[in-house]
Amino acid sequence: MGKKRLLDYAFAAGCAGKACQADLFAILKGISRFTHPDLLVGPEGFDDAGVYRLDNKRALVLTVDVLTPIADDPLIFGEIAAANSLSDVYAMGGSPLVALSVLGFPVSEIGHKTIRAIIAGATRKVREANAVIAGGHTFKDMEVKLGLAVIGTVHPQGVVTNGNAQPGDVLILTKPIGTGIITTALKANRASAKQVDAANGQMRRLNKTAAEVMVKTGVNAATDVTGFGLLGHAWEMAQASRVDIIILSPMVPLLEGVLELAEKGFFPLGSLNNYEFIKNRAVFPKDLSEDMRLVLCDAQTSGGLLISVPKNRAQLLLDHLWEKGVTAARMVGYVANGKGMVVVE
Ligand code: CO
Ligand code: CO
Repeated sequence: MGKKRLLDYAFAAGCAGKACQADLFAILKGISRFTHPDLLVGPEGFDDAGVYRLDNKRALVLTVDVLTPIADDPLIFGEIAAANSLSDVYAMGGSPLVALSVLGFPVSEIGHKTIRAIIAGATRKVREANAVIAGGHTFKDMEVKLGLAVIGTVHPQGVVTNGNAQPGDVLILTKPIGTGIITTALKANRASAKQVDAANGQMRRLNKTAAEVMVKTGVNAATDVTGFGLLGHAWEMAQASRVDIIILSPMVPLLEGVLELAEKGFFPLGSLNNYEFIKNRAVFPKDLSEDMRLVLCDAQTSGGLLISVPKNRAQLLLDHLWEKGVTAARMVGYVANGKGMVVVE
């Protein structure tokens, strides 16, 4: 047996490792809610982050995310884990301010140089976000795990949740889909270097610019697409907003080669679980292949923002996103009257 790769220290890579929606709902059922007049956004709407009001002008955006290795290069893994954690602040329309890191690893197996590179990658991304790491905590683990608890700020009136999508809105997605499939193929040495670079490029990319453009344009709702896949997060938005969400499958941007890898069966377990969960909650066209259905459920790590924008501002939002370099942004669907279903067309 050869030397272990960083990816070997992940039982399920990246966001594909989070508890699936079905388990999560079962676990949380019956746990009494905690409310507070200044807790503007709590856990009940499955939003990306909590929001706590300090005064009339300032609120804190609070979130935590932990990832197992999703790349073999420790620096890139550090960058992706940080970008992924920071993303939930951006999805709420906030700006990251300060972060705390948690890092678990098999202390006797992984060298200091590797750990240092992971931390350097995370630090670099936090700096790019104009935030700072205030400290952290390490622990012994069998897997490698890196996460950040991020605190950001937002104006209490400027919070963007997933719960205000309006019928008639257009849905814009800012990054292509397929990181779960490509990284699963990478674990099996079946993804090309070009595919891996493209996936890493998207995962390392902060949602900072996308969020800034979104806030400036004025939108109704947003979330980031991560472990529950495009359809899972769209469903959460549909539920929280009490609308139906229509996803136009031919328009969903995919990373290059994703469909071919999907046809070969490179799905992380998380994506299969996502499909199990969504298939009774979404309507699919009869002629849509099983592979494409799974692609739409692919567990993303550090995915793009899914933005619900009034129709008359959709082109403006797209133009500004492209202008600022978010060139992968595409219209992927729209919002209709309904009761929280996802309809794939
Ligand atoms: Co999120
Ligand atoms: Co998150």
